[in-house]
Amino acid sequence: MNEKEMVAIEAVKLVKDGMVLGVGSGTTVAIFLKKLGERIREEEMTVYGVPSSYQSHFLCIEAGVRVVDLLEFPELDLCIDGADQIDENLNCIKGGGGALTREKVVSQASKRFVIIAEGRKFSKRLNSQVPVEVLPFAYGYVKRKLQEMGGICTLREGKGKLGPVVTDNGNFILDCNFGEIENPRELEVEINEVAGVVENGIFCNVDEAILGYPDGVKFLKR
Ligand code: A5P
Repeated sequence: MNEKEMVAIEAVKLVKDGMVLGVGSGTTVAIFLKKLGERIREEEMTVYGVPSSYQSHFLCIEAGVRVVDLLEFPELDLCIDGADQIDENLNCIKGGGGALTREKVVSQASKRFVIIAEGRKFSKRLNSQVPVEVLPFAYGYVKRKLQEMGGICTLREGKGKLGPVVTDNGNFILDCNFGEIENPRELEVEINEVAGVVENGIFCNVDEAILGYPDGVKFLKR
């Protein structure tokens, strides 16, 4: 069994019949949903989910998770999501798949936010690129402001499509390298203060993380 499968199995154990989930995005979440689907069928459970992307929307339907929205369920029981990098205080960088804005919404709407990731994503300090979702109209201005803040920013380009990646919300993504991030919460707030920024991929609201290593899983709590 690989590390993604190991953490996905642990996350499935956290789900109870009748729960409303915030559903993240990415390859680890895809495995979680597959395994959750098996449990839903075996135990005839009813599980609701607010997906954070078209990817997880489609996968929820395949898994038998009933797709609902935040209008119906403004408070969610549990959010399960992956991460691109996670530090010793459980601060994360997310958004490698471009789903950061809805991921942040469902994570904040949830009573419990659990990250599942391979152990190689752990780093004492955050230092990978921070994805920033930007209103296309504001792109030039936001890029200048983020560069003034010390970021080296690149417009994310599509694969299988010419030009910029357009998110599920119709926006662009700027990937910004700020080097080692001393105070993730401060930077998260500072980036979001720039008009035209929709959201950024620094998450400081994780409650627990389940990390997978070749010899087993590690549970971390804030
Ligand atoms: C999606 O935008 C991301 O935040 C993913 O949750 C993150 O990139 C982790 O993805 P993997 O599980 O594919 O590593």
